[in-house]
Amino acid sequence: MREDGTADENEEGMALQQAWSRRLLPPARAVRLNAHAPYSRFAVGAAVLDEQGRVHVGCNVENAAYPQGWCAETSALAAMVAAGGKRVLAVAVCAVSSEPVTPCGGCRQKLREFAADDCPVFIGDEHTLRCTHSLGELLPHSFGPQHLVQLPVPQPVAHPAPNERD
Ligand code: THU
Repeated sequence: MREDGTADENEEGMALQQAWSRRLLPPARAVRLNAHAPYSRFAVGAAVLDEQGRVHVGCNVENAAYPQGWCAETSALAAMVAAGGKRVLAVAVCAVSSEPVTPCGGCRQKLREFAADDCPVFIGDEHTLRCTHSLGELLPHSFGPQHLVQLPVPQPVAHPAPNERD
């Protein structure tokens, strides 16, 4: 708190995060009930807050060819992009497990495309917020668009056919 009694930057940040978690956790919890997870029986819901203040939700969607299923976070990101959202300000993930369920590695990378390192990821269950991590904590030293510098297009190299060697 500042000397004049007003909230300092840290307190304002905490209050904003609390407001975001209260906004995102209920829809993530609700959409989890629509998960199509007959194979793992592990239902997950996710919600993302975009730069326009809109919330987009998604659940995991499995299918009989098991590796072809996708995660709740991926569904929520796809909904955001389809709705014209450009940036993710905050994320909530809800699942029921003994351990808090954090996004898988692939989803951390997908989130990283649209979110900054300080983006909060709220991890909840059917009742409560279990913990909060920043995306940078979940995916440190990440690869991103800044690594894709424009290099000259490699020129084709003529290789001799195997039976033309020597
Ligand atoms: N799953 C998610 O949807 N999000 C996560 O953060 C972790 C895992 C899904 C994928 C699969 O449908 C099921 O949970 C079991 O791994």
